[in-house]
Amino acid sequence: MTNPSLLILPGDGIGPEVMAEVRKIIDWYGAKRGMVFDVSEDLVGGCAYDAHGTPLTDETMAKAQEVDAVLLGAVGGPKYDKLDFSVKPERGLLRLRKEMDLYANLRPAQCFDALADFSSLKADVVGGLDIMIIRELTSGVYFGEPRGIIKEGNERVGINTQRYTESEIARVARSAFELARKRNNKVCSMEKANVMESGVLWRDVVQEIHDAEYPDVELSHMYADAGAMQLTRWPKQFDVIVTDNLFGDLLSDLAAMLTGSLGMLPSASLGAPMANGRPKALYEPVHGSAPDIAGQGKANPIACILSFAMALRYSFDQGAEADRLEQAVEAVLADGLRTADLIGEEGREPVSTAEMGDAIVAKLDASL
Ligand code: NAD
Ligand code: IPM
Ligand code: MN
Repeated sequence: MTNPSLLILPGDGIGPEVMAEVRKIIDWYGAKRGMVFDVSEDLVGGCAYDAHGTPLTDETMAKAQEVDAVLLGAVGGPKYDKLDFSVKPERGLLRLRKEMDLYANLRPAQCFDALADFSSLKADVVGGLDIMIIRELTSGVYFGEPRGIIKEGNERVGINTQRYTESEIARVARSAFELARKRNNKVCSMEKANVMESGVLWRDVVQEIHDAEYPDVELSHMYADAGAMQLTRWPKQFDVIVTDNLFGDLLSDLAAMLTGSLGMLPSASLGAPMANGRPKALYEPVHGSAPDIAGQGKANPIACILSFAMALRYSFDQGAEADRLEQAVEAVLADGLRTADLIGEEGREPVSTAEMGDAIVAKLDASL
């Protein structure tokens, strides 16, 4: 049997720093659990633009289509902000999502007990929080046509188009209902059906799929603005939230702060099953390249490490090993280890990115 294959794309800014810690975890699984991955590494984002004049080469795209899972760090940075839209680092990531057809983006927001006091919300509001945001990832206003900046008379007009087909809504709704059945059986769908036709269609299709295929799952609908308010008021009312590409982008950053830091939130982007029955998949932290702290050893590697835990669960059928890794993260936090983003006014000494990675590996060792 061949080893499972992983393509690692560290990217820009803190991407390579947090990915170096994930490499330690991958090596640990090879050495201590006999789970050897066939790992290859390549460029995406600004570093790919520097090397090849494009944020993602066709060769890298082809490799991503072949492997069992892709792990990505982060892309982007101020150096590339002025580039033409077509070669911006972010286009590399969007191309991966689109061409791999990764329509269901799972963004879990879980508040570890040790961090409940650290959230900007009260500990009783976030303590024990465990929700899953499912963001549609391959359509909507991110990809709709027409788009661009055009001239109209004497002024410029910026255009983007929100567009959803029935089948695009139906497939991500099914992902949400399937996942809810494995959790607390509750889905809340968020859109703006009060002002957007695409929102009306979204609501109708989600309801139809529910009634026809998942009547056992509790379904509610909420306008996305009210959803943002409810997420900060009492987030524990939710189990699975399903929403479109743009609302999902905003709501998941908001949910990140419920857990204490953007540096904590992992994600899995899943597509249709491949020949082996597993979904096409890309795993990445929700955060970006954090140019303000890049190169200083300050980044929190946990979001990226937990993204690898999601890979163990969703791509490699290793739920128990994913649990082991999540428990190792929890144990390190319970010991009081904190990267700088998890330190408030209390004046604790932060640990570095590498120290956090090493501590998690030590907890993995202790779990054997
Ligand atoms: P960001 O997520 O990079 O940073 C926002 C804030 O959170 C910063 O203060 C940063 O220091 C902090 N932060 C983020 N991740 C952290 C971590 N792991 N540990 C500690 N602190 C962390 O968002 P931004 O500043 O809006 O964007 C910077 C660049 O990243 C832009 O080019 C943007 O397009 C890109 N970006 C990429 C991705 C991705 O690759 N998936 C996601 C979001 C933003
Ligand atoms: C994210 C990011 C991306 C998005 C950017 C970098 C393209 O913000 O993954 O949340 O907007 O989807
Ligand atoms: Mn985002």
